[in-house]
Amino acid sequence: MDFSEFLKDKQNRIDRFILNFLENLPFQDTLLLGAIKYGVFSGGKRIRPVLMYILGEIFKIHISITDHLASSIEFMHSYSLIHDDLPALDHDEFRRNKLSCYKKFGESTAILAGNALQCLSFNILARLHLKEISDSKKVNMILNLSNSSGILGMCAGQFFDLEFKRKSVTLNELERMYWYKTGSLIDVAVRFMLTFCCQENDKIFSTFLQYSKNISFALQLRDDIIDFKNDKTRIDFYRRSGENCVGNTFPLILGLHKSKEKLEELYKNALLCLKTLSDEYIDVKLLAELAHYVIIFDK
Ligand code: IPE
Ligand code: IPE
Ligand code: MG
Ligand code: MG
Repeated sequence: MDFSEFLKDKQNRIDRFILNFLENLPFQDTLLLGAIKYGVFSGGKRIRPVLMYILGEIFKIHISITDHLASSIEFMHSYSLIHDDLPALDHDEFRRNKLSCYKKFGESTAILAGNALQCLSFNILARLHLKEISDSKKVNMILNLSNSSGILGMCAGQFFDLEFKRKSVTLNELERMYWYKTGSLIDVAVRFMLTFCCQENDKIFSTFLQYSKNISFALQLRDDIIDFKNDKTRIDFYRRSGENCVGNTFPLILGLHKSKEKLEELYKNALLCLKTLSDEYIDVKLLAELAHYVIIFDK
């Protein structure tokens, strides 16, 4: 199967799995469920699940386990985007070329849909009672997920992101903010899968994480470059922050040219990690294509 077939196949697979899960919840005919489904099924690329399915194949993890783990991460991601668009955060009326969840369903319903999705992320993890996962492994996953999506991860990142709209920041601070808001959830997705193949002190463990760190940084940077080109970030930024700020994205601080150079550096670094892994006889073809899919775009 080539990468584009793999991508489509796994996007369809996770969509079917999540839809089946959501359709078995109560309150199907409420706006709350409507908003949850709208937030989860409005054209996301499913990059996190696809990455997890690739790792699942490499580590020979039973696919039904990956279905659960990938859904957990995608629920958390979907919640983060619903809340990200709220008036109190980015105040974005559109997401993926459609009305954002709050614009379509109202603010209170969107807030509650996000809250419910966050809980569902843990709920679907807790439902895994397959032999392959001991209770202690599961508790560890829940701990990692709560850190990476909360105060040691995404929520902290979102807080810094908003704070940085109002003050000058260094590139290091910006890089740390990208890590918290976007990197940490992808990091935990990879850690979920690594649980089945090796220990934290194994050489390949850190190499896989290093690969995904480059990918997640690049995903956010590419997103910011696209927003910058569409003028969205600039307009939003100046509307909110007045004159005295430096900016809260790489393109705002470094400009387009240097941001693209950074993107290329991240791509090269991701491929270097894959070289190390292929030296250990790991088949990295799909991971290389995923890096290309995430990072490279028409310039
Ligand atoms: C969007 O993430 C926000 C960022 C972290 C850049 P994705 O680009 O993975 O979002 P969807 O789900 O495919 O829209
Ligand atoms: C998305 O971040 C939210 C998270 C990473 C949690 P941004 O606000 O930078 O991205 P978009 O452009 O709205 O997707
Ligand atoms: Mg944001
Ligand atoms: Mg946003």
